[in-house]
Amino acid sequence: MAERSRSAKRIAIIPGDGIGKEVIPEAVKVLKAAAAAGGRELALTEFDWGADRYLRDGTTLPADAPEMFRRDFDAILLGALGDPRVPGNQHGSDILIGLRFKLDLYVNARPCELFDRRLTPLKDRTEKDINFIVFRENTEGLYSGVGGFFKKGTADEIATQEDINTRKGVERIIRYAFEFARGRGLKRVCMSDKSNALAFGHDLWQRVFTEVRREYTEIESSHMYIDNLLMQMMRDPSQFQVIVTCNLFGDIASDLGAGLIGGLGLAPSGNIHPGEVSLFEPVHGSAPDIAGKNIANPMGAVLAAGMMCAYLGWTAEAQNIEKAVRAAIREGKTTADIGGPLGTRQVGDWLANRVASS
Ligand code: NAD
Ligand code: IPM
Ligand code: MN
Repeated sequence: MAERSRSAKRIAIIPGDGIGKEVIPEAVKVLKAAAAAGGRELALTEFDWGADRYLRDGTTLPADAPEMFRRDFDAILLGALGDPRVPGNQHGSDILIGLRFKLDLYVNARPCELFDRRLTPLKDRTEKDINFIVFRENTEGLYSGVGGFFKKGTADEIATQEDINTRKGVERIIRYAFEFARGRGLKRVCMSDKSNALAFGHDLWQRVFTEVRREYTEIESSHMYIDNLLMQMMRDPSQFQVIVTCNLFGDIASDLGAGLIGGLGLAPSGNIHPGEVSLFEPVHGSAPDIAGKNIANPMGAVLAAGMMCAYLGWTAEAQNIEKAVRAAIREGKTTADIGGPLGTRQVGDWLANRVASS
């Protein structure tokens, strides 16, 4: 283990599509600067998976990719996948959901921390009011791909999409949320489901939550139905510290969370299997509406690289990156989505310089 931590970190870089190809080079720039400042070594390998490659030769996620990542890499940094030329997002599902499932990255950690009160659309809210993390179950639920068509394309068509909830899957994400809270000295965990309507799968969430919470008596645990949770997140986000929920609800809640802190341009995430190769990415997608214009905010991708450093044990580098982002916001060195005058590359340059000189 000691040997491993001394050696270079082997990072797979998947820029993907649209603004992924613009924000990831900036995140890599900042990551390299942080590594250099800390005297750390990086071994980066880029993969050209995305819509262009898929349309050219049909490649999505090669069959041996999960094994390769487990064997040869410490972490993966991904931009986004999605392209209007691929309406069903086949390549995106194969690559992104494929990696989440095949690497068993069961924790999708999506922090929502307000870095500057000027960035929230909520009236009279300040930094102390918005600082929570959404733990999204990331390996099952409605994303399992179980279902199908019957009589497709006819007037009698039937389409099913099964919501898969396993005892193991539900328990490990709920337990992770409580362990995270305990480890950080946080006081509140809120589990959100729709057990009032989804009588089987979410009944399981209820029962597991009731059982697991008993082991964490120092933590105030609560439950909210997802519809109420989203309303409460907006009405009074200060009541939340840790939110844990299923795959689809976590997807939705984390976009709302991003909206509370200044938008998707700022939100990072980690797809994690503790102790194993894990994948870090901004929460946003490929944003075809702004792609290719050098206006996308690279900070979500940069902060995702920071989360990756923290995961790899590069604590000082992670802090260096986050401090640089906070400074850029404070000094207005940002893209237009959060009010600044700079382009994607200029923000990346500024952050890399800041990180290098700290
Ligand atoms: P999106 O996140 O790409 O964009 C939503 C809105 O936020 C757009 O108005 C966009 O311009 C803005 N936005 C997003 N990121 C931004 C940034 N960094 N800076 C400034 N503005 C930003 O979501 P969408 O439009 O629903 O999806 C577009 C494509 O991306 C679709 O193909 C979708 O499937 C895919 N997608 C991929 C991922 C992923 O790979 N992780 C995540 C979400 C969506
Ligand atoms: C996300 C995205 C993906 C998801 C899509 C692109 C499949 O929205 O990472 O939040 O729904 O998980
Ligand atoms: Mn999403």
